[in-house]
Amino acid sequence: MRKPIIAGNWKMNKTPAEATELIEALKPLVKDAQCDVVVCPPFVCLPAAVEAAKGSNIKVGAQNVHFEKSGAFTAEVSVDMLKALGVEYVIVGHSERRQYFGETDAVVNKRALAALEGGITPIICVGELKSERESGITHAIVELQTRLVLANMTECQVKKCVIAYEPVWAIGTGLTATKEDAQEVIAFIRSIVCDMYGSEVAEAIRIQYGGSMNPKNATELMGMPDIDGGLIGGASLKAPDFTAVVNY
Ligand code: PGA
Repeated sequence: MRKPIIAGNWKMNKTPAEATELIEALKPLVKDAQCDVVVCPPFVCLPAAVEAAKGSNIKVGAQNVHFEKSGAFTAEVSVDMLKALGVEYVIVGHSERRQYFGETDAVVNKRALAALEGGITPIICVGELKSERESGITHAIVELQTRLVLANMTECQVKKCVIAYEPVWAIGTGLTATKEDAQEVIAFIRSIVCDMYGSEVAEAIRIQYGGSMNPKNATELMGMPDIDGGLIGGASLKAPDFTAVVNY
């Protein structure tokens, strides 16, 4: 049985004081959640977030991590730095990183491997563009991304990963994939994991849906057999909305 995982991707929102405020508001509201609950604030909010989440069931994640241990990589943050703060998850390969900062599947794979080696759980994002869906190449794109981002891992490492299937056209647009479309692609991703690493790994890995997931559509998406959670952007910034998704 896979435990569902709902993660909030705050993107470039909230100051440290606002992060504390939101987490304090969430704590009593999500305390009985049946799923793993993660918030991913900006780097500068991480110390405040970890402090605020202490003693609760809320875990803290970062939004990116570099794959080298240290050195001349201006503006980057290492796995050890995140670990030292008490960060337990990290998003890698978000479509905004791919689109605006030129991240490739090969780089995403290196970031995910570094996170795993340091004991941090990567939430690895994949998903097709609108034009790719319209051209009927969603499966080809998602297969390629999945194969590249999960390359060179041990079976044990793959089991620990979380994949977020985020159709890029659904992110921040209010357009959600139908539950059937999301289920279909996520089951397809699981079949690729099965082909790469075998059925035990494919049954163990958790695959989230992301893209305009909100209190209105969370229940039906979470009711699908292969959807193991959500990566929530806009709706993670307000306590009542994120709570409603977490308590789907
Ligand atoms: P959204 O963002 O929920 O605002 O569409 C999801 C994401 O980018 O992870």
